[in-house]
Amino acid sequence: MEARIREIVDGMTIEQKVGQMTQADIRKITPEEVRRFYIGSVLNGGNTQPGDAPGASFAQWRAATRAYHDAALATDMAVKIPLIWGTDAVHGHGIVAGATVFPHNMGLGATHDAELVREIGAATAKQVRATGIDWVFAPTLAVVQNTRWGRSYESFSSDPAVVRELGAAYVEGLQGTLGSDTSAVATAKHFIGDGGTDRGLDRGVNASSTVDLIAIHAQGYVGALDAGAQTVMASYSSTRDYGKMHGAGTLLTDVLKKRMGFDGFIVSDWNGIAEVPGCERDHCAAAINAGIDMVMVPEKWEKFIKKTARAVRMGDIPMARIDDAVTRILRVKMRAGLFERDPDAVVGDAQDLLARDLARRAVRESLVLLKNNGAVLPLRRDARILVVGKSANSLRNQSGGWTLNWQGMKNHNADFLTGDTLLAGIREVAGAANVVFDKTAAKANVASFDAVIAVVGELPYAEMKGDILFPAPLSESRLYPEDLQVLRKVAGHGKPVITVLVSGRPLYVNDLMNLSDAFVAAWLPGTEGKGVADVLFRDAHGAIAHDFHGRLGFAWPNTPCQASFAKAGDTPLFALGYGLKYTNPKQLGPLATPAAPPVCTQ
Ligand code: GLC
Repeated sequence: MEARIREIVDGMTIEQKVGQMTQADIRKITPEEVRRFYIGSVLNGGNTQPGDAPGASFAQWRAATRAYHDAALATDMAVKIPLIWGTDAVHGHGIVAGATVFPHNMGLGATHDAELVREIGAATAKQVRATGIDWVFAPTLAVVQNTRWGRSYESFSSDPAVVRELGAAYVEGLQGTLGSDTSAVATAKHFIGDGGTDRGLDRGVNASSTVDLIAIHAQGYVGALDAGAQTVMASYSSTRDYGKMHGAGTLLTDVLKKRMGFDGFIVSDWNGIAEVPGCERDHCAAAINAGIDMVMVPEKWEKFIKKTARAVRMGDIPMARIDDAVTRILRVKMRAGLFERDPDAVVGDAQDLLARDLARRAVRESLVLLKNNGAVLPLRRDARILVVGKSANSLRNQSGGWTLNWQGMKNHNADFLTGDTLLAGIREVAGAANVVFDKTAAKANVASFDAVIAVVGELPYAEMKGDILFPAPLSESRLYPEDLQVLRKVAGHGKPVITVLVSGRPLYVNDLMNLSDAFVAAWLPGTEGKGVADVLFRDAHGAIAHDFHGRLGFAWPNTPCQASFAKAGDTPLFALGYGLKYTNPKQLGPLATPAAPPVCTQ
């Protein structure tokens, strides 16, 4: 294979080599331009769908990927090089309407179930391959140390050992047998230290010592590379000693490629090269010289090719570096079987977008029981239930970011061609006649019910839009006052209140918890909301249907400013690994709720 690659590279012009290193967004490049400029890769960014409109059909995805693949094989090159298309299927193929969406990584981390995560990786590969896509920008291997970060939910855990184990499992599932019809290329991202920036600032500075970079932030890569991950995405963030990761040759080349022996390719993040001092969106010799092999230059790809080719001719970028980058890209494409693949061969079908039972099982296993006073849970199926809260009937809120679009905010239940809300699950097990939904608890007479289920939490966000910027407190009731209002209405009527928090991270909830008899962390469960009712209710015979399985992958704050537990002395409300079961209940007394609105110092 290496000899074959060398022969191909030796026969390529500079423009063809640089074109091969270029990844453009399909909104900004046509198949004809892919052919004409010898483009090696395209992506659909979080807001990009075929036809440049939301809700592209399965058939439209299939047609678009086919058109781009055919174009890449129609160049005038002696040896045609197949295209590789990347997508952010970070919790299933979430951008495709009709695809099952799994819990985000924070929920999967709470399952501590590597076999489940492996199966989810495999199911995700089938979903993307059915749409003609070969490469997934996942798993995120951030070991998040500060939950102010808007990408905390993309992290399995603050515990590096959990990230290492689950990251490896996800890569094994996703890639399976490279080159097979059910394999997709994985991306270990974002190298290195994205989850350890000061105060969790997105794209900020990770001031860790080298020891901590290795012991905490590198562990996911040890697992993922051992599992054979073929690509790595560079992080927007910086490290204390090496600056912006996109220009950090010591880490990208000396550490990752040489000492860790990574022989796949490194892809930059979306316009990530522009963040390297002295660089632009369409040109950065420093990033390529540092070890970036494929450049995600979504819009300005034509200028990028011209400027980079000139830089090669001027000697600013050694030809050997270009040849190494192209060699790595061809190596991954050959390992992925792209050279052998018949583009007319159809892999999978729309059915492969669905994995509802697997996702529902993941939801069940991800739930963490934090409080269950008086053993009010599990509920009997014949109980009369009042359901309240803004996230009980919202596929948007339960799926979070990276769903149908980048932020996940503009979604309505009707946009999801598949999926069940938590309310749908409650109605199914308790019987619709026994269930009343009153989102704001405006009208309902609580006393006439046996129990109240309040589903509250965060609205969707992605990346920097989800940052809780210092010094704002991470207090749920300050961020979302409507949730405390609802609980104040339904508590104190002598009926048990079960609160389900749908959020992308732990938050300070002592005030909400004091108004709840039971409290469940549900994270961002995705489309299969019925998994929640599976656990909250007994089975038809009155026995426990599914006990809680989840355990915290992140410590839970006891004060409104506890975003990080890296320093000793920060005592959490619940420690890493905490989780009650029906078989081992524990009473929780009233919690302290500081009166004055805090000004955080961390
Ligand atoms: C985003 C994210 C990265 C994603 C890429 C393509 O900005 O940082 O995780 O894979 O762009 O959407």
